[in-house]
Amino acid sequence: MGRPNIVEVKNLSAAYGQSKVLFDVSLKIKANERVSIVGRNGAGKTTLLKCMASLLAPTNGSVVYDRTELVGKQSYEVARMGLKYIDQDKHVFLDLTVRENLELSSYATGDYDWDKVFKHFPKLKILIDRKGAYLSGGERQMLMVGRAILGDPKVLLIDEPTEGLAPSIVDDLVTTFHELSKDCAILTVGQNLSFVSRIAERIYAMKEGKLVAEITDAAEIKNSSYSHYL
Ligand SMILES: Nc1ncnc2c1ncn2[C@@H]1O[C@H](COP(=O)(O)OP(=O)(O)O)[C@@H](O)[C@H]1O
Ligand SMILES: [Mg+2]
Repeated sequence: MGRPNIVEVKNLSAAYGQSKVLFDVSLKIKANERVSIVGRNGAGKTTLLKCMASLLAPTNGSVVYDRTELVGKQSYEVARMGLKYIDQDKHVFLDLTVRENLELSSYATGDYDWDKVFKHFPKLKILIDRKGAYLSGGERQMLMVGRAILGDPKVLLIDEPTEGLAPSIVDDLVTTFHELSKDCAILTVGQNLSFVSRIAERIYAMKEGKLVAEITDAAEIKNSSYSHYL
């Protein structure tokens, strides 16, 4: 367990106007670790990920990634440095094909190693000429993650990866995330406990803007004994 921390969040707080939603959140992610945050709707999971990816400015606190402070940086800089946020709405360009969606990300990252994308998501190769509008939820999720792994990220922050997906697709994602974590750390947030139990090495429980527990015991993770935190 001597892996270095790739991310360290310290005392992070955030607000929308006068309404405070994150309170002193501190967490760490080790290189190549799979971590999940579980919490109900409105707990602050998305707000936390957006602060980590510099899509939202925290009111206080620090996010250190690979020994660099991210607070104050632009989100595109953070993405280029290798920390990628994948949003919960599965936004792909609906009028563009899978190929064109990937091309846009290649322009942005300067990375054209699509073989890696097809290795993890062979289905995308078959769907290469299909427009975003005609992809299923699972296929959109594949495309979102596929775009994110261009450019060799060190950390993927994935918001509600299984929401609205069929169980068989979720099974595929479990396998894929295990494979992907050989190359990068993965933080997922959500409420799908059976998914979390199958991928997470460590879990944080979030309630009303605070991290209220950390679960590290493999047996507790496997049998979802952390469900009472939801
Ligand atoms: N753009 C926003 N403006 C104002 N309040 C927001 C905004 N986004 C989220 N919130 C509020 O912040 C809290 C945390 O939301 P969010 O981070 O989306 O939680 P989660 O992802 O865990 O469901 C909720 O009370 C939500 O209503
Ligand atoms: Mg959310």
